Amino acid sequence: MNEAKFNAIKEALKYIKDGQIIGLGSGSTVELFIEELRKKIAEEGIYLGFVPASSMTYLKLATLGLRIESLDSYPELDISFDGADEVDERKFALKGRGAALFREKILSKYSKKYIIMVEDSKLSHKIGEKAKVSIEVLPFATRPVMARLKAMGANVELRNGERIKDGPIISDNGNYILDASFGIIEDPKKLAQEINEITGVIENGIFYENISEIIVGTKDSFKKIV
Ligand code: A5P
Repeated sequence: MNEAKFNAIKEALKYIKDGQIIGLGSGSTVELFIEELRKKIAEEGIYLGFVPASSMTYLKLATLGLRIESLDSYPELDISFDGADEVDERKFALKGRGAALFREKILSKYSKKYIIMVEDSKLSHKIGEKAKVSIEVLPFATRPVMARLKAMGANVELRNGERIKDGPIISDNGNYILDASFGIIEDPKKLAQEINEITGVIENGIFYENISEIIVGTKDSFKKIV
């Protein structure tokens, strides 16, 4: 058990209120969060609905018999919870290791609150120190988009499957994912906008707005970036 991750999750659980419709991102943190949510529902008899950002999260919810809802039924969610690959003191985040960044960004935009839970090993001074920028791209436009990103100074790779698939991985939306390294990102908002201006880019993994709070778990406690 990663205690720092668990301490962030434990704090995030305090935001849950009976009757909420909750967005859930993707990844190991969210999976653990769902297990804790199931315990909370059983203990307190509360009624919650969940909108998953990925097939992984959908399957986890379905397997545990939790109530799955959609943005069609609830165009504005009460609150969403998510993990991240890297966060910084300025309240920026890099996301997309699990290839769910596009739907996660949609959840972040259409939720009244968007909470990120991470362990302290993911905290840096400025994002880009530890993780790359994930970029979802339309397969048809992959090579020209890569060329544009390289011209912007990035090292770019097409993300390939490991062990279970040869060739590029396919996102839940049927697209490819690029991993672009820009080094330390001084102006995340500007970079995010420049990336999204490249025709063929679906979305990038720089989260620079809509984050209500980042809960950073430590071995014994947590801190919040608000
Ligand atoms: C999914 O695409 C990502 O944005 C995840 O939120 C991120 O990679 C965090 O994953 P872990 O919780 O597994 O670290």
